[in-house]
Amino acid sequence: MSRLLVTGGAGFIGSNFVHHVVENTDHHVTVLDALTYAGNRASLAGLPENRVAFVHGDITDAPLADELFANTDAVVHYAAESHNDNSLHDPRPFLDTNIIGTYTLLEAARQHDTRLHHISTDEVYGDLELDDPERFTETTPYNPSSPYSSTKAGSDLLVRAWVRSFGVRATISNCSNNYGPYQHVEKFIPRQITNVIRGIRPKLYGAGENVRDWIHADDHSSAVLTILDKGVNGETYLIGADGEKNNKDVVELILTTMGEPADAYDHVTDRAGHDLRYAIDSTKLRTELGWTPAYGDFASGLAATIDWYRANEDWWAPSKDATEAFYAGKGQ
Ligand code: NAD
Ligand code: DAU
Repeated sequence: MSRLLVTGGAGFIGSNFVHHVVENTDHHVTVLDALTYAGNRASLAGLPENRVAFVHGDITDAPLADELFANTDAVVHYAAESHNDNSLHDPRPFLDTNIIGTYTLLEAARQHDTRLHHISTDEVYGDLELDDPERFTETTPYNPSSPYSSTKAGSDLLVRAWVRSFGVRATISNCSNNYGPYQHVEKFIPRQITNVIRGIRPKLYGAGENVRDWIHADDHSSAVLTILDKGVNGETYLIGADGEKNNKDVVELILTTMGEPADAYDHVTDRAGHDLRYAIDSTKLRTELGWTPAYGDFASGLAATIDWYRANEDWWAPSKDATEAFYAGKGQ
């Protein structure tokens, strides 16, 4: 498995994965990315040209997929429209990329008998009550809430169908909420960090009781490499690091870590259909494939992420004003 094709490798988690692969393996990586508003070539800056190639293109382009799959040992498929709030505003790109794009890659994998790992989300399982003792497992029924999560659920089901019907060699992982460097300022944690840097009060949807299960993006990358290496064809693996926190606690931790009063934030209009709680049980990945996360402490991972945003304003500043204008238009 020396030649990897990474779709969406200029996005948040994809670029973290490319950095992780370069630092920890000798694989060669080709990134295929359409450079939507969420893609950024600067997230791959400094990587050696003899290890990482970049192809600017769309995953719905079947001839391009055919050409690239012919010269690839394995594909890791991150490319997606990824933001719930955008999917509530305009669902169409989510159908095009998440459904048709995944279909296009599955057909190329079938044509070339190429191993494919599909990156997905815990949101396909819907949400949990705050006091539910159960967490999501690989056998939890699908019950997605938003246009985003329903298209990700659809893409997972396409992968399962192509494995069973056509013998495509594929695995799936469903991961919880990632944090770390290179995340777009539309997302919760970087939005609040960059708000504080800009002197804007952080914005909490509703009461802020919603719980997310945080994992550092680098731990997501090590889990994906583990599945590529040892995962069983046709299997699904849940990825999580036991990082449940409610949004109010996270915003208060961001504020205090940045030297501000813990209550210096605003409550704003809640997200429509807002999922209450996500929680991952990653026992299968840990016991069957031997994976463990390296970032045990959310507070220090968050502090390092804050440092990264302070040091890399050139990376995020070009997106900040348009992102805040979008939210302001929705009372958020
Ligand atoms: P992101 O929005 O930061 O990046 C998406 C990347 O895909 C961008 O570089 C974009 O240019 C590219 N892209 C979009 N449409 C494309 C197309 N049609 N053709 C080619 N490239 C295209 O997303 P992310 O947060 O890095 O998420 C990556 C993947 O991980 C997604 O599949 C998402 O569902 C999944 N995931 C994300 C999280 C999270 O917390 N962010 C958690 C679990 C799973
Ligand atoms: O669980 C995995 C999912 O995590 C991924 O599949 C998605 O791609 C990724 O975007 C993320 O989805 P969320 O909707 O959970 O992430 P987001 O960063 O948008 O929001 C996290 C929580 O914070 C959520 O409860 C909404 C809330 N929020 C968000 C924003 C942007 C706020 O309270 N204020 C905000 O300004």
